Amino acid sequence: MEHRKKPEDLRSRRWFESQDLRGFGHRSRALQLGYAREDWKGKPVIAIINTWSDISHCHGHLRERAQDVKRGVWQAGGFPLELPAISLAEVFQKPTTMLYRNLLAMETEELLRSYPVDGCVLMGGCDKTTPGLLMGAISMGLPAIYVPAGPMLIGRWAGKPLGSGSDVWKYWDELRAGRITQRDWNDIEEGIARSPGTCMTMGTASTMTSIAEALGFTLPNAAAIPAPDSNHVRMASMSGRRIVDMVWEDLTPRRMLTAASFDNAIRVLMALGGSTNALIHVVAMARRAGIDLPLEHFETIGRKTPYLVNLRPSGEYLMEDFYYAGGTVGLMEGMRALLDTDALTCTGQTLGENIAGARIHLPEVIRTPADPMKPEGGLVVVRGNLAPDGAVIKTTAADPRLLQHTGRAIVFDNYDAMSKAVEDPDLDADADSVLILRNAGPLGGPGMPEWGMLPIPRKLLKQGVKDMVRISDARMSGTSYGTCVLHVAPEAYVGGPLALVRTGDLVTLDVPNRRLDLAVSDDELEKRRVAWKPLPPRYVRGYGQLFSQNVTQANEGCDFRFLEGTEPTAEPEIH
Ligand code: FES
Repeated sequence: MEHRKKPEDLRSRRWFESQDLRGFGHRSRALQLGYAREDWKGKPVIAIINTWSDISHCHGHLRERAQDVKRGVWQAGGFPLELPAISLAEVFQKPTTMLYRNLLAMETEELLRSYPVDGCVLMGGCDKTTPGLLMGAISMGLPAIYVPAGPMLIGRWAGKPLGSGSDVWKYWDELRAGRITQRDWNDIEEGIARSPGTCMTMGTASTMTSIAEALGFTLPNAAAIPAPDSNHVRMASMSGRRIVDMVWEDLTPRRMLTAASFDNAIRVLMALGGSTNALIHVVAMARRAGIDLPLEHFETIGRKTPYLVNLRPSGEYLMEDFYYAGGTVGLMEGMRALLDTDALTCTGQTLGENIAGARIHLPEVIRTPADPMKPEGGLVVVRGNLAPDGAVIKTTAADPRLLQHTGRAIVFDNYDAMSKAVEDPDLDADADSVLILRNAGPLGGPGMPEWGMLPIPRKLLKQGVKDMVRISDARMSGTSYGTCVLHVAPEAYVGGPLALVRTGDLVTLDVPNRRLDLAVSDDELEKRRVAWKPLPPRYVRGYGQLFSQNVTQANEGCDFRFLEGTEPTAEPEIH
């Protein structure tokens, strides 16, 4: 192997082998932890960056799994050190985990840089943890393998399967419309999350872990294994064994990541009918690798990639079914002709070698390009005078009737106003209205919360209305559905055209022609622009201020400007 390293090449040697005062400190303190000299002598130090915490419900098993990873590292002749990182526990963390994705990325990068580390195992899965961990690891550039938390088991209620998120929204609307009882609702609450693991719909978590696999960061099929399955335990220990060899092989993210590997990731995203959030995260990860991905690129690939996976919220089944159906490897083998199978992966083999021979066992769950769910990918980019820098819609989760639609805008300036109004029986809205929420973008939210699936007004729900055109500069949960136009850029908070819409304006969504337009003349828009007054800053100190001053817009990945690119950062001095 041309890049094979020797013990004297290890980065950690600078800490452990230097025969000076500092070397004494490093060795004596490692001995203080109970390690013997043989534990580190000549061995790669493997950081296990673990996002477990008591509040991270999707990662409840990762404390245990870290022990399995360690077992693998020891077996392969490495020295494992678990380094906890911030957990971004979706649901609990406010205002939104997206505010902290870049903080996790910074923490990951700096943990790896500042400690004696030769390679790393990244442990996460809940939504923003995957991109956060990978962005940091890409920027640091040490060999890195990803251990996805894995999806939780299928939920159950009244003999029916329950899907994370998707069925929460569905039954919440049923409760609001008076079609289920409070007791039903309580039973659903107890049945929907039955085990550790990430949301088991094709939400952001499984979309991003599948993308991590397509990029080459996981062992084959790792993204599909349910969290409680014993195969997940074995995948963790195998990842521990594998990372040690990756260090010796000097198999870094830079060697794996190319424009072609990101194209593979986008193809898998489209075939999955994956989360709209992925557009932001993939752009951010690619920029960390020095690859610019304009939204048009997603559009180009989406038009040539069929939608293949019948999972909620776009389809019918859940992640456990996906695993039994053949999982990520089955999907990728089935769409092999669309992938660049020469892309190098963490196994040291190509993507093509990793997936060779994998089979699809349940064709109703995983289709092939010869028999797709739909001939095109489900994520579409629209532009127009309302979204000059683009907006995104997941067409596979939308009512096809609404994909070409003109309606009267009902505009909400913030979340509280919107949530009050949708419960108002006198709200001046009908099924054709277009609901607009603004000031919910990267700066306005702040952090671009998942508010983009605006609730259907209660009075319309009672009339049986199930979907409406909704537009915002927010994101939406990957488990959500509906005709929701998201990520409108530039956002209203920085003066994008969304800030200028008024209730009563006509708005046209035209997905076949990729347009989103406001029927207001340029002159009138200019007048409104002059009259527009910016909102006061959200933060005047702390991390929030750092975020506000540096975050990019949705079409640019929402990374901090100073973290993008591949400029090398100096190694720390060891003294
Ligand atoms: Fe963690 Fe959905 S809440 S993945």
